[in-house]
Amino acid sequence: MKQRIERFTSTERIAHWMVALSFLYSALTGLALWSHRMFWLAAVFGGGETVRGWHPIGGIVFALLLAFIFRNWAAQMKLDADDRRWLAVSHKYAMNQEEGVPAAGRFNAGQKMLFWLQSSSALLLFASGLVLWFPEWMPRGLRLAAVLLHPVAAVASIGGIIVHIYMTTLVVPGALRAMARGWVTPRWAASHHAKWYRDLDRR
Ligand code: HEM
Repeated sequence: MKQRIERFTSTERIAHWMVALSFLYSALTGLALWSHRMFWLAAVFGGGETVRGWHPIGGIVFALLLAFIFRNWAAQMKLDADDRRWLAVSHKYAMNQEEGVPAAGRFNAGQKMLFWLQSSSALLLFASGLVLWFPEWMPRGLRLAAVLLHPVAAVASIGGIIVHIYMTTLVVPGALRAMARGWVTPRWAASHHAKWYRDLDRR
């Protein structure tokens, strides 16, 4: 039996870490612009003027990288009947009870939900961000909608990423190595993504 199973290709890993960096930059500079209480963050990124100029560019880079990831992963992120059952008993997963929790494919239903949350909030951030970037060209109604939507989408997306970082660094040992080096052990695959592991075995 192979001792290492490829979980993420190098393209997937490079795209993931680039999206993570661009997200952190956009989120932190965005927080600096959003509230005077967070303005101290601007000093970390080169001052208010620099942050005002580069935040939208960071946002565009983030949206483009996420669009690339979306193209590669969207088909694998569709929810199937097992995923719907998984979501219905997700409290058991959260309590670490395995009984009654359906086996997961390459991504479990929680990971798939994160993917859809990030994809939809990125779309909203991108569209409302463009309106806020060029307000003089936009009708008043659109400007008002953007002022409201941009921070709401940002809060949803930052909240999702906090949960994502917590899950992948503290709750699921071995996940970080998978995204850093690309491989997992057969035991890890069988215990966290049993359906994926079974399907790999059949190939
Ligand atoms: C900056 C801190 C981040 C860390 C430490 C991190 C860590 C990880 C790890 C370890 C995995 C692999 C999980 C597995 O093997 O099952 C993963 C997957 C993934 N990451 Fe991240 N990530 C970060 C940021 C982001 C950002 C900013 C996004 C998108 C906006 C993102 C989107 C995803 C998606 C869609 C997956 C696949 C599904 C999943 O495992 O949740 N990540 N991440």
